[in-house]
Amino acid sequence: MAQTGASFTCTACGAVHRKWAGRCDACGAWNSIVEEAPLSTGPGARVPRSRGRRMALSGLAAEEAPPPRTRSGIGELDRVLGGGLVPASAVLVGGDPGIGKSTLLLQAAAAFARAGLSAIYISGEEASAQIRMRAQRLGLAGEPVRLGTETGLRDILTTLDAERPDLAVIDSIQTMWLDSVESAPGSVAQVRAAAQELVGFAKKRGAAVILVGHVTKEGQIAGPRVVEHMVDCVLYFEGERGHQFRILRSVKNRFGPAGEIGVFEMTGSGLSEVANPSALFLAERDRPAPGSAVFAGIEGTRPVLTEIQALVVPSSLGTPRRSAVGVDSARLSTVLAVLEARCGIPFAGQDVFVNVAGGMRIGEPAADLAMAAALLSAREGLAVPADTVIFGEISLSGALRPVSQTENRLKEAQKLGFSRAIAPMRSKGGAEQGMRVCHIPDLAALTGVLFGAG
Ligand code: TYD
Ligand code: MG
Repeated sequence: MAQTGASFTCTACGAVHRKWAGRCDACGAWNSIVEEAPLSTGPGARVPRSRGRRMALSGLAAEEAPPPRTRSGIGELDRVLGGGLVPASAVLVGGDPGIGKSTLLLQAAAAFARAGLSAIYISGEEASAQIRMRAQRLGLAGEPVRLGTETGLRDILTTLDAERPDLAVIDSIQTMWLDSVESAPGSVAQVRAAAQELVGFAKKRGAAVILVGHVTKEGQIAGPRVVEHMVDCVLYFEGERGHQFRILRSVKNRFGPAGEIGVFEMTGSGLSEVANPSALFLAERDRPAPGSAVFAGIEGTRPVLTEIQALVVPSSLGTPRRSAVGVDSARLSTVLAVLEARCGIPFAGQDVFVNVAGGMRIGEPAADLAMAAALLSAREGLAVPADTVIFGEISLSGALRPVSQTENRLKEAQKLGFSRAIAPMRSKGGAEQGMRVCHIPDLAALTGVLFGAG
């Protein structure tokens, strides 16, 4: 039974289990395991074969030149891709429905077509008329992108094989299906098999393939997680619906640095690049108010300043609320605990809300100190001086750890008109950037430099 019957796959991480369980042992997700028909092709298939052929092995020294990259001319996109699109590569662009993936990729396909690639855009979700209307709205109607609407992968692969494009955009991987796989489109088995075929096409024909994947909260439709292992580059398109900012973030890239971000703004005529994200994220900050601190962060290879906001109010609940938007809630709990244990500043009985302005999400531990400053400022009702940026990682002992790329952080702050920084001891730089840097050894010293004589 276990040999021939169905297997059970986690929709969150793609791990295969022999039995159904409420929780995936591999990634810890709850309720994410679904039953799957056995694969007829792919790594799960059991093909009887005697002994394999002996492989040819080679050395590490490069024999070929690095692949030529094509730049789209959309700087924010090219940087996230690691400097342009690489031939024979597969890229996954994931994101919530409605965030702007189709818009981004139609613009990207047009830009790459303008740069000389032959581009095909295949949609399994929208009718040609709809896509043409969008192209019109984006001012791209005259671009040499060829359009197809189809969900059957066999037809798509035959077409791509015959047309030999340099770039194929597949929108979206969840709508594609292979008739050799016996499960519904959008199921883990279908998504995995379809992605495998398309990645295979990219490798075999030297084309770049961009797959769109919807991220859904429910386990019903397979998230693009199972595809992440197969592709060369994983980009996430994020942003708040209410905000016009969109961030394209590389979480995996075999051809460039991961963690790089590109910032866009959704306008009436499509996505436009934001060349100076710091200015954008700080734009809402008109005058210093209690509970606000500016964090000098690094996103990928680029410094970005963001405003961390905090609100501290007496709680009427037995267990006070802790809300973190844009920062990790575990980091917030840690900072609150260290403030209480090492500095004697309690937040018990207080509801605490922390938010990053502009819908940005910060993953760096260097944001700890700015978060602590915003919390103290909110609690005391005193504004952080408007000329000050803050960065530093807080350890559980209350000591501050120096963070990477201090010079770049200071340079960006200086460029945006800040003149003072609060940073951990042993942070380098400052004078050459024209910044006054207050080096502090631990969290207990923060209150003094924030609100004291400084
Ligand atoms: P879409 O690209 O269809 O999102 P996805 O493919 O990720 O589901 O775009 C979704 C939203 O973007 C839609 O609500 C309308 C908005 N939009 C604009 O604001 N301006 C534009 O020029 C376009 C094309 C879309
Ligand atoms: Mg779409």
